[in-house]
Amino acid sequence: MDALWSLDEVVVVPGGKPIIFFSILALADVGDEVIYPNPGFPIYESMINYVGARAVPIQLREERDFGLDVNEFASLINDRTRLIILNSPQNPTGGVLNKKEIHDIADAIGDRNIMVLSDEIYSRLIFEGEHFSIMSIPGFKERTILLDGFSKTYAMTGWRMGYGVMRADLAAHMTRLMTNSNSCTASFTQIAGVEALRGDQSSVDRMRDEFMRRRDAFVLGLNSLKGFSCRMPKGAFYAFPNTTGTEWPSKKLADALLEDAGVACLSGTAFGDFGEGYLRFSVANSLENLTKALERMGQWGAKNL
Ligand SMILES: Cc1ncc(COP(=O)(O)O)c(C=O)c1O
Repeated sequence: MDALWSLDEVVVVPGGKPIIFFSILALADVGDEVIYPNPGFPIYESMINYVGARAVPIQLREERDFGLDVNEFASLINDRTRLIILNSPQNPTGGVLNKKEIHDIADAIGDRNIMVLSDEIYSRLIFEGEHFSIMSIPGFKERTILLDGFSKTYAMTGWRMGYGVMRADLAAHMTRLMTNSNSCTASFTQIAGVEALRGDQSSVDRMRDEFMRRRDAFVLGLNSLKGFSCRMPKGAFYAFPNTTGTEWPSKKLADALLEDAGVACLSGTAFGDFGEGYLRFSVANSLENLTKALERMGQWGAKNL
């Protein structure tokens, strides 16, 4: 079978983050607009602001299982839109955009000359349905930068390795940014990455099944806590409960849980303004510790809510 991609369309970098950094640096300028998910991975908004472009949030809505309203999305696109960032499965909500939603997004973009940064780093950690990339829609291969990496699928976060797949002319610019900043991704790390890709993939499925077991238990526990309600995330390894029932602002609640109950989570506002009213927990921890965290939060709630 012919390869779908040639080597000059792939840029290997130290982690997923450099692809985000380089894409925004290469494509967005003062006066340009970039649409990004909110709540979303914080580097998107910070980098857009850093380059002087305008950060235009598309709100991910709980009532849509943290998907987006495509009409609202379409209304944000204009002549200044330069880049659109998608992330599915999503950090911090665990939301997954299905094939229809991605097609609707593609239809809203139409044939405009807008690039899409599709952050698919959690694509193998999906619990329901199948992963679908906008890059596979005719006309989008040329306009998409696909981000993937080894931090999530192979739990190789500290190894620092990721990659972007894109048009060769754009890849040449990304390579220049990469060469002038990091020189290269460590060669021995790349060899480990090749082994991970070529090796037995059953460990990835086992890890996903284990995350699913923890997700089920943890979300059940969260839903029994006073003031918390949590949707079942469809991918990644996070739970993103709505905590408005506690009547505590998210940041204050996250700080209190850490200081008084010894439970570490992030305020939803760490992921943008639309994260107010939510907390983000990671289930990349043992079931034993997750159970302990739920017990402690229950005790804290009994005293403070
Ligand atoms: C949505 C998303 N994209 C990219 C990354 C970056 O991962 P890396 O550790 O490979 O830089 C993360 C890490 O948390 C993430 O959640």
